[in-house]
Amino acid sequence: MTSKPDAGTTFTQQYPAGTVLFEENDPGSRMYVIRRGRVRIYRKIGDNEMVLAVLGPGEFFGEMALLENLPRSANAQALDDVELVEVDAETFETMIRANIEIAVRMMRKLAARVRELDSRLHNVLVDSGVGRALEVLRWLLPKGKPEDAWVRVPASAVHIGVAAQAGLPPNEISRVFEVMTRAGCIRAHGADILIAGPAVLDDFSTYLDLKRRYEPTDAQIDSAPNAERDKEQALKRLLKALQIEPREMELQQESLSGQYRKYLTLKRRFEASRGLLG
Ligand code: CMP
Repeated sequence: MTSKPDAGTTFTQQYPAGTVLFEENDPGSRMYVIRRGRVRIYRKIGDNEMVLAVLGPGEFFGEMALLENLPRSANAQALDDVELVEVDAETFETMIRANIEIAVRMMRKLAARVRELDSRLHNVLVDSGVGRALEVLRWLLPKGKPEDAWVRVPASAVHIGVAAQAGLPPNEISRVFEVMTRAGCIRAHGADILIAGPAVLDDFSTYLDLKRRYEPTDAQIDSAPNAERDKEQALKRLLKALQIEPREMELQQESLSGQYRKYLTLKRRFEASRGLLG
């Protein structure tokens, strides 16, 4: 590790690939801006690691401990040889107060993180067992790999991770794995499991989402009576209130039917798992 002072209490530091920069619950006294390389942000859950983000040049991390005056919320590790600008708490506060542009950029970034976490939470809370298991698979994938690359993970880690994090009872797990295998999301490989890249997992997740919308099960219909019709009426009221022209309403309809077409395409692709999905 080498360091050179930049200005005042800001330093440029270099760390080799693999360096753990800090760990969850450490006290935090500085934040970091990445100049070169990638940094992995992750949490440890039992023996597993949940990757929250892989950040690259121009992105920052370690700001939460400073903003909230609390210990580190996650671990950070250099994925490559990295060069980081390190800013201490006092300089950070002065920078934010003096430069609204920095504060706005930071708020945008934090909003994007909350949005991503909201969507993951939605999958975990609302989806079927398959949807929740799929979300856990996404967490297990190391980020930064090509979208279509298969990733090899020990089968025990996948089974334990999915059972524990998706909250699936033992009798449900084999059904969920069978569905995901037939959908092409996972593949058995000796003592390992191959997990398809994020592109396939995202498509299957979209398929589950659209399936819920276009082919709700009886239980879903009972628990949310008229939800779709109410939504449609609410959309019409909103368009009227916003004085949107009929042509634009048609375009809205077209985009809805575009979604249905997408659903049919995905359904054909994933129909091997038809009949198994609950
Ligand atoms: P801090 O809590 O100081 O240390 C861990 C850092 O990881 C945290 O600040 C954020 O900068 C970053 N971090 C925490 N959660 C996420 C997330 N969900 N996505 C991206 N970065 C995160």
